Amino acid sequence: MEMGTPGRSRIMTGINGLDEMSMGGIPEGNQVLLAGAAGTGKTLLSFEMLYRNAKLNVPGTFVSLEEGRDSIIQNAGGAFSYFDDIDDIIHSSRILIQEQTGISGFKSKENWQSFLAGINKIVQSNKSRLLVIDSISSLRASEDDDRVFTRYVDLMTETFRNMGVTSIITMESESPVSKDQTGLYGTFMFDGIIWLNQVDMNGSMQYLVRIVKMRKTAHRVESMPYEITPRGFNIFK
Ligand SMILES: Nc1ncnc2c1ncn2[C@@H]1O[C@H](COP(=O)(O)OP(=O)(O)OP(=O)(O)O)[C@@H](O)[C@H]1O
Ligand SMILES: [Mg+2]
Repeated sequence: MEMGTPGRSRIMTGINGLDEMSMGGIPEGNQVLLAGAAGTGKTLLSFEMLYRNAKLNVPGTFVSLEEGRDSIIQNAGGAFSYFDDIDDIIHSSRILIQEQTGISGFKSKENWQSFLAGINKIVQSNKSRLLVIDSISSLRASEDDDRVFTRYVDLMTETFRNMGVTSIITMESESPVSKDQTGLYGTFMFDGIIWLNQVDMNGSMQYLVRIVKMRKTAHRVESMPYEITPRGFNIFK
C-alpha cells in the first residue's frame, strides 16, 4: 500500500492514532526503536502492530527475548479481549512467534551473527514484512560492555536493513536517547524512535507516546496521550 510520500511504501502500524502521527505509517525498511519504561506497553503495542498487519494479510514475526511464547499469546489475548482470532492468525502463520529467552550478554560475535541468521530464516519462512524484537534490554550485559552492546545493536539493524524487513526493536528505558539509560553510544543505527512514557498528571498516571524521530517521512513531534483498551491501543488526537 502506498501512502504519504509518493512512491514510497509504508508499513501501517494499524494502531489507532499512530499512523496519523507518522503521516501514513512507518516507511518500509525502517529500523525502529520502541523505547519505554517498564509497563508502558512495549510488548502489547508491538504485538498489536503485528496483529493489525496480519489482519491485512501482511505477515510478521515476533521474536521474544524475555517472555515465553505461551505467555506472550496469553497476555495479548487477555489484554485485548476483542481480538478473538489471535489463535487463527498464529495457526495460519501470519504471525510467527519465536521464543529465544535466556540470552544474557554476548558469548561471542559468532553467536550473535548466528542468532541473526536464525531470525532471517524465520522471517523468510512466512515472508514477514514486519519484525518485532522484544526486547534487547536483556542483551545489555553490563555497563562496561556498552561499546560492545552498541556494536551488536548496530549489527542487528544492519542485518535487518539488508533483509529489507521493517523492524520494531523494543527496549526498556526511561529515556530514548540518554546513554546511561539506553546503554547505546548514539541512536544512529535506528531510522525511527518511538518513545512511551508515563507522567504524573495531578496524581493520576498518564501514558504518553512521542515519535522522537522517523526517517523518510514527516511526522508529528508532540507527545500524545494513549490508553490500552480491550480493543487495542488508543492514541488521543
Ligand atoms: N490483561 C490485561 N488487561 C488490561 N491491561 C493489561 C493487561 N495486561 C497488561 N495490561 C496493561 O499493559 C501494561 C503492560 O503492557 P506490556 O507488558 O506491553 O508493557 P511493557 O512495556 O512491555 O512492560 P515490560 O517492561 O514489563 O516489558 C500493564 O502495565 C497494564 O497497564
Ligand atoms: Mg514487555
